[in-house]
Amino acid sequence: MPAISATAPGKIILFGEHAVVYGKPAIAVPVTQVQAKAIITPDLISPRGSVQVDAPVIELDSLLNKLPLDHAISQAVNLTLEALKITEAPAFKLRITSTIPLAAGLGSGAAVSVSIARAVSSFHGHPLSDEIVNQITFEVEKIHHNTPSGIDNTVITYAMPVYFVKENTQETFNVKEPFEIVIGDTGVKVSTARAVNAVKSRWRADRDTFYHVFAACGLIADKARQLIESGLPQELGPLMDENQEWLAKMGVSSPELERLIAAAREAGALGAKLSGGGLGGNMIALADPELSEDIALALKEAGATNTIVTRVGN
Ligand code: PMV
Repeated sequence: MPAISATAPGKIILFGEHAVVYGKPAIAVPVTQVQAKAIITPDLISPRGSVQVDAPVIELDSLLNKLPLDHAISQAVNLTLEALKITEAPAFKLRITSTIPLAAGLGSGAAVSVSIARAVSSFHGHPLSDEIVNQITFEVEKIHHNTPSGIDNTVITYAMPVYFVKENTQETFNVKEPFEIVIGDTGVKVSTARAVNAVKSRWRADRDTFYHVFAACGLIADKARQLIESGLPQELGPLMDENQEWLAKMGVSSPELERLIAAAREAGALGAKLSGGGLGGNMIALADPELSEDIALALKEAGATNTIVTRVGN
């Protein structure tokens, strides 16, 4: 059996975060500039069932059966072997590399799971369908992210823009005219669960207001999908600004996010907002391609610890 590798991109939420938890639509797109990769090589010496895992980004070098059973990598490998109905696989080595920033709302965990499911199944001669890869990744996400909506695994598995309504609709859709997004990281690490819980307690205290806030975000996501599909991406800018106002009302913006958003707008962005859980993490800006690099520079000057320019719809 030759060495096999598989990759999966990162992702970013364009519209509808938080409201998606309350049944409203959200839109996320793949970020192909960064990726996770799983490489499998046969191990002709060790006994059947032995899997050696080497993941330098998380400083892991261990036999799979020495990892806790709920470790995300064990879960991804074991769920894949289960789906293939393999009880004792021929020994192999699994190396995982990733250029996706960790814990930054860019879907690094889901991308690692997708690349593992694809590489392990291809190595055994039975590449799993996207549908099963998506299911396996969602199972791993559930163990590690409380109550994930399922948007990360879907956008990363299909590597396509996704229109997502929790427990209801998961549609990939086409981008008529490609457009550029600049992603800026505040460097402030906040768990998604903390941000989701913060919104939950405010929602409980004032359901009427939040009903309208979530509904407005849902309409924005619907409108955004129409604009992307009909080739009018430049009109997404004002929708980003509007979505940001609602997110600030939800209480998930932060001084660092506001500083980066203002810097992007001053540098010519057509619109900007936080992306993902908020309270820190990433913001995104819609950029005329000629200005992308200037906007990225302005974000760095305003304190961004990392920037990524990504083209949606190639
Ligand atoms: O921070 P991210 O990119 O993992 O996104 C979280 C998005 C939320 O809507 C806040 C939560 C969710 O599960 O959809």
